[in-house]
Amino acid sequence: MGKIAIIYGSSTGATEAVAKKIQEQFDGADLFNTDSVTTDELKPYDFYILGASTTGVGDLQDDWDMFLPKFEKMDFSGKKAAIFGLGDSASFSTSFAGAMYVLYKALKSKVDIIGSVSADGYTFDESDSVVDGRFVGLALDEDNEYDETAPRIEAWVKELKKQLA
Ligand SMILES: Cc1cc2nc3c(=O)[nH]c(=O)nc-3n(C[C@H](O)[C@H](O)[C@H](O)COP(=O)(O)O)c2cc1C
Repeated sequence: MGKIAIIYGSSTGATEAVAKKIQEQFDGADLFNTDSVTTDELKPYDFYILGASTTGVGDLQDDWDMFLPKFEKMDFSGKKAAIFGLGDSASFSTSFAGAMYVLYKALKSKVDIIGSVSADGYTFDESDSVVDGRFVGLALDEDNEYDETAPRIEAWVKELKKQLA
């Protein structure tokens, strides 16, 4: 499976807490906050798990917004990435977890992105992050659907491990 880096941007800590839960499920994965990580630190890794909350209306979390222009210039040869995103599907039903798409759009031509998730079972009106009926990564809603978070992470990690095997 190679070396795994989990890289997150989090404004009030929700995405950070989820990133830690995902870390627990991967033996030896390292955790980095976009507010302080450097691209040099990330070079040795083979698989990047990228987490972001959504701000504004469908916008990328602020620390990621600063870091993405550097991150997207990395050499991703032979590497893979997966995305997870937090949002509030009740208050922001027309831009739910839109930040995932901002990451996806910037990186899809540069790195092999795995881990899309069916949009079935989520309640929202619109999301840029749904492409051909599937979220481009794992959408989570800690504001309204926190009961779903643990099973959603578990199913996603299982699928990622299968694809990385
Ligand atoms: C100013 C503001 C704008 C937001 N905009 C969106 C949005 O467009 N879509 C969405 O799904 N969630 C939106 N949210 C909800 C957050 O993404 C959600 O609460 C998330 O869990 C916060 O995670 P964090 O603490 O890691 O930043 C917004 C929250 C705030 C405070």
